[in-house]
Amino acid sequence: MARRCSFVENNVGDARWEGCSFAAKDFRMNVLLIGGGGREHAMAWKIAQSSLLDELYVAPGNPGTVRHGRNVPLDLQDHKKLRAFLLDKRIRIVVVGPEGPLVDGLHDRIADDPELKDVTVIGPRKEGARLEGSKDFAKEFMFRHNIPTAAHRSFGKGQLQEAIEHIERSPAPYVLKADGLASGKGVVITSDKKEAAKVLKDMLQDGRFGAAGERVVIEQFLKGIEVSAFLITDGDSFKMLPAAKDYKRIGAGDTGPNTGGMGAVSPVPFADRDFMQKVHDRVAAPTIRGLKKDGIPFSGFLFMGLMNVNGEPYVIEYNVRLGDPETQAILPRLRSDLLDLFEGIATATLSERHVDVDDRTAVSIVLASEGYPGEYATGAPIVGMELVREAYVFQSGTTMKGDQLVTAGGRVLTVTAFGKDLEQAIMSAQRSAALIEFQGRYLRPDIGFDLVKQPSTKAAPPVAR
Ligand code: AMP
Ligand code: GLY
Repeated sequence: MARRCSFVENNVGDARWEGCSFAAKDFRMNVLLIGGGGREHAMAWKIAQSSLLDELYVAPGNPGTVRHGRNVPLDLQDHKKLRAFLLDKRIRIVVVGPEGPLVDGLHDRIADDPELKDVTVIGPRKEGARLEGSKDFAKEFMFRHNIPTAAHRSFGKGQLQEAIEHIERSPAPYVLKADGLASGKGVVITSDKKEAAKVLKDMLQDGRFGAAGERVVIEQFLKGIEVSAFLITDGDSFKMLPAAKDYKRIGAGDTGPNTGGMGAVSPVPFADRDFMQKVHDRVAAPTIRGLKKDGIPFSGFLFMGLMNVNGEPYVIEYNVRLGDPETQAILPRLRSDLLDLFEGIATATLSERHVDVDDRTAVSIVLASEGYPGEYATGAPIVGMELVREAYVFQSGTTMKGDQLVTAGGRVLTVTAFGKDLEQAIMSAQRSAALIEFQGRYLRPDIGFDLVKQPSTKAAPPVAR
């Protein structure tokens, strides 16, 4: 197939258009991107490179997205105002970064409004978003469609005793999951039966996890290495996007509490061609087929959180969006025009589009505020970003205080660097991360180290403080 028109850029800022045979202005469209984290900064950066873009709006965005579009305050719950905005700005595509608005039914509100018939939402309707919004729904779906996942049982309110008896009969460790969205805090893994019983009581009886914990999924523990796989779909066909490995724990060597993610590497050496073919055939394809078969319309991104168990992929979870910080590692590797893929969703012609990926390795390191994922201070001035020459810097927990960029969140920014191999990419990302300073800055010094076959003395020394 002929190469599609795309914007090609390397990590030192050389950029060019390739394969464009039309007057780009004829195809231009206005886009609204929802979200304000590092994922959305990377998405805004990528969308802004599209030959198909006219105006990009980001709601609410962050100081980083301002460089690629216009930040707008929008109350997504106020449908009248949202409709007025979409019509006034002639928005063609609404891209939803986080899962919340999708689980909340944003897609449905837009798609069911006859005045907004020309607007395409990238992200599923509420029903499809249940793949992420309800672990019980996702497990039943996988079971129905023969998609490999850990064996499970689920228990509702009033079934506390049965759940505890199930634990008594099962081998440790115990994996307990609140059914609903719990901001990454709804999964407890323990080998202690007493602790497991207490968590079950907290969820099912005492309502400590709110509505999310009114139903609990208890799963078989899977031993392996995790990898995040992604696809984009128009509901009919799908395209795999690059996979990434996320580093979820706060501390070096995978220690300490879970976070949203402290770094990412793409591609992932152990997710080789064979493994990714299995992911395609046994997970991605049956998922899209299963959704169709169940009559669940689904478009947008699907994030397959996988465990590689002796070379076999098992689904740990689905997310109906891209990952953070995985996006900051995979979008710089995507050579294709992201808006062209979105256009493929809008016109149900995704099968005709091409996903072209840079072979080089991208490493993303998150700079966080000391104390994260617990309590942390904000308002610390961030300096040195302008010194970064060989990496991309994507902002998340930042805000402007006058003319000064200051910290405003747990995960403050992500530095992404390329290398011809993993070691080079790690060194480059570490060099760049070391240039950026703020009070209490913390980073994981070992992002990617576990994937380097023979860690050499060339690897830069840890730069955490
Ligand atoms: P989740 O929110 O479902 O992604 O779970 C959070 C984390 O718990 C995952 O990233 C895994 O590290 C771990 N986890 C979840 N399910 C299992 C399982 N069945 N076996 C082992 N680890 C799991
Ligand atoms: N980095 C994991 C996630 O976005 O859910």
